[in-house]
Amino acid sequence: MTWDEHIRKLIKLAYEAQSRAYCPYSHFATGAALEAENGQIFLGCNIENAAYSPTNCAERTAFFKAISEGVREFARIVVVGNYEGKQGDYCAPCGVCRQVMAEFCDGELFEVILARGPEDYRVFRLRELLPEHFGPEDLRDQQ
Ligand code: THU
Repeated sequence: MTWDEHIRKLIKLAYEAQSRAYCPYSHFATGAALEAENGQIFLGCNIENAAYSPTNCAERTAFFKAISEGVREFARIVVVGNYEGKQGDYCAPCGVCRQVMAEFCDGELFEVILARGPEDYRVFRLRELLPEHFGPEDLRDQQ
């Protein structure tokens, strides 16, 4: 399988996850497929709440599933999202999700892939989306 075919497979999985989104308030359904370094794939969708702030994004759902299963090393995440099922633009991760990614992923290596169709995607490194971040290394003795 080529790299492109592999990414298309992840996009398909992200759309499957999106079909399970619970988004009665925003009507913006999102899906994510997170690939671990060991090849395992964790899917996530957004899960909204009547109180609004407990809402969890698709990306964090996927990360928290993986981490709670003991997996902490990740290669890439594919994100899809659109409003009321209409074809939209690329859905970039919110700041909170970027921060969660930065907790576990090397910004130079981790790939954030935004898709707006089965074969239409853009590839970023996390560092491009979250430069100058605050991370675990900032809480260590740096002398
Ligand atoms: N959302 C995500 O799941 N991921 C993103 O990258 C952006 C936003 C969700 C949160 C909320 O349920 C809905 O999309 C609208 O903000």
